Amino acid sequence: MAYSLVQILALLYFPVFLTFCSSTNGKFSEQSPMIISTKRMEKMTRLRFYFHDIPSGKNPTKMRIAGPPKTAADSFGSTFMVDSPLTEEPEPTSKLVGRAQGMYSFASQHDAGLLMVLSFAFLEGTYNGSALSILGRSPVLDNVKEMPVVGGSGLFRFARGYSLSKTVSFSQKNQNAVVEYNVTVVHF
Ligand SMILES: *[C@@H]1O[C@H](CO)[C@@H](O)[C@H](O)[C@H]1NC(C)=O
Ligand SMILES: *[C@@H]1O[C@H](CO)[C@@H](O)[C@H](O)[C@H]1NC(C)=O
Repeated sequence: MAYSLVQILALLYFPVFLTFCSSTNGKFSEQSPMIISTKRMEKMTRLRFYFHDIPSGKNPTKMRIAGPPKTAADSFGSTFMVDSPLTEEPEPTSKLVGRAQGMYSFASQHDAGLLMVLSFAFLEGTYNGSALSILGRSPVLDNVKEMPVVGGSGLFRFARGYSLSKTVSFSQKNQNAVVEYNVTVVHF
């Protein structure tokens, strides 16, 4: 019995259309399959976590490493190195899901705009050992900041997407801030 080329291709790719299923990994992430072609299936993953900015105390999460001398810490050119815990809930004592490591600079001469260069290195569950790369502008005064996800490693190879973040708490006393991140990525 002879099959046409179209029939053979339809049979080959049929299983791709049958694998619609979502997987969740606690509150931290949710993944659903996304078909962009009949040959390859890409996945879309949403992550939510909380970034802890702790500027002072015994273990500060950031340090000013460059910038113009004898000016305010937040003037044009000021650059900070960062290593901040990422947790599952806003409380600093909640489960650690990763670390944000990288740097940011005050990159605007006209307003408060940062250039952010960050790796989100994940430490929890399925994504332990995988990382996402953020490179983009963070407008300090905007309530919600959007930044591009430009790549990833491990399970996030070929990742692209965006993050939305907003400060959910800030302490006047010690300047500690908690920033909520929703990250959406498409990857293989
Ligand atoms: C993550 O992976 C590292 C290295 O493989 C391992 O030591 C660690 O226990 C893992 N963490 C979790 C929470 O599974
Ligand atoms: C993140 O997503 C949740 C649930 O959709 C939403 O309530 C929250 O406002 C979002 N946060 C940001 C920073 O976009």
